Amino acid sequence: MANGTAALHVAALASGIGPGDVGVPSPLTFLASANGIAYTGADVDFVDVTSDTLCLDIDALADRCARRQAPKLVVAVDYAGVPCDLPRLYELAGAYGFTLLEDASHALGSEYRHQGRRYRCGGCGHAHMATLSFHPVKVITCGEGGMVLTNDDDLARRIRQLACHGVERERGRLTRDDGPWYHEMHELGFNYRITDFQAALGVSQMRRLEEWCRRRREIVRRYDDAFADLADAPPWPDHTSPAFHIYVLRLRGVWREHRHRFFERLLEAGISPQVHYIPVHTQPYYQARLGYAPGSFPIAEDTYSRCVSLPLYPSMSEADVSRVIDAVCAILSGAP
Ligand SMILES: Cc1ncc(COP(=O)(O)O)c(C=O)c1O
Repeated sequence: MANGTAALHVAALASGIGPGDVGVPSPLTFLASANGIAYTGADVDFVDVTSDTLCLDIDALADRCARRQAPKLVVAVDYAGVPCDLPRLYELAGAYGFTLLEDASHALGSEYRHQGRRYRCGGCGHAHMATLSFHPVKVITCGEGGMVLTNDDDLARRIRQLACHGVERERGRLTRDDGPWYHEMHELGFNYRITDFQAALGVSQMRRLEEWCRRRREIVRRYDDAFADLADAPPWPDHTSPAFHIYVLRLRGVWREHRHRFFERLLEAGISPQVHYIPVHTQPYYQARLGYAPGSFPIAEDTYSRCVSLPLYPSMSEADVSRVIDAVCAILSGAP
């Protein structure tokens, strides 16, 4: 696909969701996870994340399904590359009949164990579909690019069709046959194709995936050790091996209320931090339509109020990592 947003859009359409239906994404994600649902005309509703994974709170989702109109689609984001509890979500999808779409944009290379077996995020071992983004900051990149993955042939055919103008070329599926050139448009699709040049770059990057994920985890271990007494480290559940697309530190103690100052001091030290994410339900577009009051999703909002993402990329040298560690420790050891 041309990008991860296009992938989410066609995956949502392929799930059959549309006006009158409800789709549930996590509020702690990039806008596209929710927008993919909104493009279809369906209503977007959110369910909070849990503080132990920063992924969808499955108990809250189960409660929502039991009490209100069950969603037709759930977009579960592997936040920062930490796998959602996909086996449990998949079980819930079976019980309530929703399509489970894993937004694995952060999680190419992430793994989880379930009942003694290893599964890869995006592999659809426990999801109907998964999407990836190959945006420049992702674990691998095509410049821009995305992908939908599924093990379901019918979904795959629908996704391919939607991504290419809704065009059908298979002889047995056409209403007539004018000749070998003939094809038909069966639905209103899009031009969401990635170029061959970009795909070639992606294929070559895939060869380095394992090495890059290993290096990301090494850096995360160094950060975790260095910051253990100063801030809350990103989640790293026991049964998982995350690809760690981002390293999200959550400030605590006296610094909890001073993220802005911490951010500026890092900039002054020549280090570029980021914030992932402004909760999607607080964006003016969604506020105007859904009217969520502050405090609607307290864990996502609390995470936003005190999170800062630190530099994390495989080509960081040990000296680069030390420089970030020294700067963070110096700032957090002092007063705001
Ligand atoms: C979780 C998540 N989903 C979807 C996207 C959208 O991907 P793209 O930028 O390739 O459209 C992104 C980021 O870019 C993302 O972080």
